[in-house]
Amino acid sequence: MKAVNFVDASIAAYALAHTSPPDEALLDLAEETARLTGDAAGMQICPEQGTLLTMLVQISGARRAVEVGTFTGYSSICIARGLPEDGRLIACDVSEDWTSVARRYWERTGVAHKIELRLGPAAETLRAMPREECVDFAFIDADKPGYRVYYEEILARLVPGGLICVDNTLQSGRITDPDAGGNVPVMREFNDLVASDGRVTSVLLPVADGLTLIRKR
Ligand SMILES: C[S@@+](CC[C@H](N)C(=O)[O-])C[C@H]1O[C@@H](n2cnc3c(N)ncnc32)[C@H](O)[C@@H]1O
Repeated sequence: MKAVNFVDASIAAYALAHTSPPDEALLDLAEETARLTGDAAGMQICPEQGTLLTMLVQISGARRAVEVGTFTGYSSICIARGLPEDGRLIACDVSEDWTSVARRYWERTGVAHKIELRLGPAAETLRAMPREECVDFAFIDADKPGYRVYYEEILARLVPGGLICVDNTLQSGRITDPDAGGNVPVMREFNDLVASDGRVTSVLLPVADGLTLIRKR
């Protein structure tokens, strides 16, 4: 699981200890992901984020969800668990290898019937979807330069009142560092775009690596 270093370590541990924990299947998935993917395992969402995603899907009453960035499946399982039995999640990723792990865990956790994996660049996958308001909930957690396109393509398809959750918006606390390189400048531009977008209401939560909740007006 990724290390987040902008919240005091003892507070972060306390918050995690007072959040409903992952079940055995998610713990096994985290362990297998670490073993199989090495450093890439840091891309997996944090356990408290998984609990929050399930809760957000449940309280929003979403039935049709989209995920950009599936990796080995942790977040997709958490989203699918919040959907009703006839709910659907379109999971977008480019990696056949990593999502083959996800497929196994979708079966194990009993959510495979709710998830459709679409392999390929997510911008193309999203653009191929009907341009109509047919999405209730979305989670963006993939290549950071793509966030703006994913946001626009999903927003165009989101129902009014629908929710988009965006991961990594605080960039391990480097978001305010004017000298930071890597994905920080592009994420800062993205955060500015959302904060000034009159089409939505948003809140940036210092949860995990920064999670922005965006509700379409
Ligand atoms: C941060 S990981 C996702 C972690 C995942 N949400 C989880 O809970 O484990 C990012 C994923 O985005 C995928 N990705 C990168 N570029 C992409 C693109 N252009 N289109 C679709 N997926 C992409 C990568 O293959 C990787 O699996």
